[in-house]
Amino acid sequence: KDKALWSGRFAGSPAEIMQNYSQSLDVDWNLYKEDLQGSRAHGKMLHHIGILSNIELDNILNALEEIEIEIEKGIFHPKIALEDVHMNLEARLIEKLGPLGAKIHTGRSRNDQVATDYRLHMKKALKDLEDKVLSLLKILLHRAEKDIDIVVPGFTHLQHAQPISLGHYWMAYFWKFARDLKRFNNAYETTDVNPLGAGALAGSTLPLDREFTRKELEFAVTSENSLDTVSDRDYLLEFLFAASTFALHTSGLSEDLILWSTSEFDFIELPDDFCTGSSMMPNKKNPDALELTRGKTSGVLSSLYDLMINIKGLPLTYNRDLQEDKRPVFHSLYTVNMILDILTPLIEGIVVKEESIRQHLNKGFLLATDIAEYLVLKGIPFRDTHGIVGNIVQYCIKNNKIFEDLSLEEWKIYCSAFENDVYDILCPQLAVDRRKTFGGTARSEVKRQIVVGKSFIQSV
Ligand code: ARG
Repeated sequence: KDKALWSGRFAGSPAEIMQNYSQSLDVDWNLYKEDLQGSRAHGKMLHHIGILSNIELDNILNALEEIEIEIEKGIFHPKIALEDVHMNLEARLIEKLGPLGAKIHTGRSRNDQVATDYRLHMKKALKDLEDKVLSLLKILLHRAEKDIDIVVPGFTHLQHAQPISLGHYWMAYFWKFARDLKRFNNAYETTDVNPLGAGALAGSTLPLDREFTRKELEFAVTSENSLDTVSDRDYLLEFLFAASTFALHTSGLSEDLILWSTSEFDFIELPDDFCTGSSMMPNKKNPDALELTRGKTSGVLSSLYDLMINIKGLPLTYNRDLQEDKRPVFHSLYTVNMILDILTPLIEGIVVKEESIRQHLNKGFLLATDIAEYLVLKGIPFRDTHGIVGNIVQYCIKNNKIFEDLSLEEWKIYCSAFENDVYDILCPQLAVDRRKTFGGTARSEVKRQIVVGKSFIQSV
């Protein structure tokens, strides 16, 4: 029967139901690589300070290597009775090396061990994630360049507001995701701290060399306070906040694209490979990938709250509650990775329906602000021009007309300052290009953004 490695103090062993309750293998087994990496670094450090001889270190390193191969071959079967990844791997080392294997845990606790494994794991996960966000950013830049000449209605309150360049729309999401990338990068920096050597909570009576393991594990710095180290989960909260913000962005983008693909909007055609049909209605092409993205976002958001609520009110230092820190983080990592894998090619594959979009530009009086500003340039105070154009809009709605249908006489009913040049205002593309304020939707400004966006990509 497999005894827990801590069984010495106990006369009995935990009930089976307690073992099931206590085990974390189902979530922490995927830390096995980092656990072995941590053990190698810890073993080398124990050798460095004279606790392991040359031959002992060699044997430990070889055995750790063999264990990794056993796992990769699928012939290592972790046991629930051994609770977690840490004790399963240590028990196997002892099985292989006897008393020598029992030296690996010298000066180490699972409390600093799990923190080490987790931080190593998150560093790699965050780098992978940053690569994927970078690919998404590149696709958005590409789309912005390609669609810069396409004018679409811009919305506030989901009502027609002002015309914009579709390139400007894509760049809006470019900047949101660029900030997400920075947030993931900030989380990386918070994660890049060596916990090993903090022990269970107070450090060690042995002369452990934490700078040695820091270098060995390629952490940027070593943590300053052992009590803080074994209880600190801030770096995970930072990741979850970054992931939540990213997911919120993807959810909003999905909502726009879902709307745009409806027959009511008909702005875009979604690529077939990211849509599904209906089992009953032969006509259906559903935007499921986007709906799932919107839906899966809730799981990421709740993961952030899950961990915050877990940590709230915990006394220092390690408490077993903290074992529950993995499910929300791994769930979010998995979800955010999937969203990125889906969204990037989906955006790339969108076909923009320019002809259909043009039909929309005549609805909703998109150029009302332009006309008000036209009058401003003729010397009329804006608040007055706003009222004048509002009245004209009301007149058009009543008479089922659009601005283009009005004669100069009709314009002049509302304001004598209108001249023939008002018709020059009524071109959506020119209206877009007039908005040259820094960060505005004019093509010249979108081009400027694209240049800045490209150098941002180069800088990361
Ligand atoms: N599996 C635990 C975790 O993930 C580490 C074990 C610490 N256990 C303990 N009794 N101190 O947090």
